[in-house]
Amino acid sequence: MAVEPRLLVVEDEGPMRELVVEELSLRGLPAAGAASLAAARAAIAEREFDAVLLDLRLPDGDGMDLLREIRAEPGGPEVVISTGHGSVSSAVEAMRAGAFHYAVKPFVLDEVEMVLRRALERVSLDRRARALERIAGGEYEMAGDSPAMAELRGMLGRVAAADSPVLVQGETGVGKEMVARTLHALGPRARGPFVPVNCGALQEGLLESEIFGHERGSFTGAVRSREGLVEVAHGGTLFLDEIGEMPPALQVKFLRLLQDGEVRRVGSNRVRRVDVRFVAATNRDLGEAVRAGRFREDLYYRIRVLPVAVPPLRERPGDVAVLAKHFLAALRRPGGPGDFSPRALAALAAYPWPGNVRELRNIVERMAVLAPPGVLDLDQVPAEIRVPGAGAAPAGGAAGGFPPDLPLAEVERLHILRVLDASGGNKTRAAEVLGVTVRTLYNRLDAWRREREGGAAPGDTA
Ligand SMILES: Nc1ncnc2c1ncn2[C@@H]1O[C@H](COP(=O)(O)OP(=O)(O)OP(=O)(O)O)[C@@H](O)[C@H]1O
Ligand SMILES: [Mg+2]
Repeated sequence: MAVEPRLLVVEDEGPMRELVVEELSLRGLPAAGAASLAAARAAIAEREFDAVLLDLRLPDGDGMDLLREIRAEPGGPEVVISTGHGSVSSAVEAMRAGAFHYAVKPFVLDEVEMVLRRALERVSLDRRARALERIAGGEYEMAGDSPAMAELRGMLGRVAAADSPVLVQGETGVGKEMVARTLHALGPRARGPFVPVNCGALQEGLLESEIFGHERGSFTGAVRSREGLVEVAHGGTLFLDEIGEMPPALQVKFLRLLQDGEVRRVGSNRVRRVDVRFVAATNRDLGEAVRAGRFREDLYYRIRVLPVAVPPLRERPGDVAVLAKHFLAALRRPGGPGDFSPRALAALAAYPWPGNVRELRNIVERMAVLAPPGVLDLDQVPAEIRVPGAGAAPAGGAAGGFPPDLPLAEVERLHILRVLDASGGNKTRAAEVLGVTVRTLYNRLDAWRREREGGAAPGDTA
């Protein structure tokens, strides 16, 4: 996969700079060079680097100034100072100003490489910590405080920091696109573009040139060359929505893109390299599509390196009230209703929400528009949402609230999840309430998780 340089070598002496850039790149640390402070500033403004190897004496000024500028902004690259024998004292000053380390010229490249690798490690740890902080701090729009959501958030923090392809799986309306956008926003490419492509909505012929671009004259109507969405996403995230719908001809092209980071525009022989992160989403069982021969197996394994399952809303009933209030606050018009009664919330929580969060959002919107000011009560909950018996039960104990057409296994599942929710995710306490061993509870949860992830195949994390 083509990789953007994450290292910047600032050094005015041409041959020296070129040698270091080339050597580092050969050692798997792709680097770019800058010959002056001005060039370094321009490069840093243009894209994100993880580490900078910085010479202090530059033709247009003192490297120390750039060091201070870089360190003044949180989340920037680590800086390793390079300095001549005579000026070790300035290296010490640089350390005080926040440099990660210094290297004395002439370099022993092994040492420089080692220091830079340690700097890169520190950067990725820092970024991860900050991503988790931002999630915890609520600078993040995904509402919900169920144990399942907490688990999902933790997962997103870890997955965002990685660069491997992600497959987001979940029923319709659970928030897959929201997850994809969150991954982008929390990851190292947040400053790059987020480009969604709906694989289900386009026809085969058009799709190819939309996505991969075309050269002038490559087909009737192609009056000028155009870059495709893949190139537009360079440096950012390409979101392949409804990937299960991708026509077979395009699956081949995407396989190539994922494997080699290469694209070729329609009607062109030239291969272009792009650096994008892939996040795909599907609401159907892709594994099943593979078995049925509709989806390439090799592409399947490439795209689902990091599978993320978004659980349906009925499995996290504790989120319903939080989400309902969240949407009501967001949709609220002046003079409209401001809150729900406990009975109304209990009724909402008892409904199985086949359309998941999107359905909930639509219902809340309808209620907010139609209802008089004040508190939304049970009679404002649309009739089709009201499960017989629900809402009449005391808040938090909507035990009779299951629809009349549920199989016993599903009722058991919903009940377990509800108890788990009520005990704040504490499995020991939930097991006590349920009168089963903690082991039994864990076995159930594991079995459901495996089911949800579509029977994860062994060894597919390669
Ligand atoms: N945790 C959440 N907090 C707030 N809003 C949410 C949350 N999850 C989903 N939503 C909202 O619910 C709606 C549906 O979400 P989204 O479009 O991400 O679902 P999806 O899984 O991509 O759906 P589909 O399968 O239909 O493509 C959106 O309006 C989204 O903003
Ligand atoms: Mg979607």
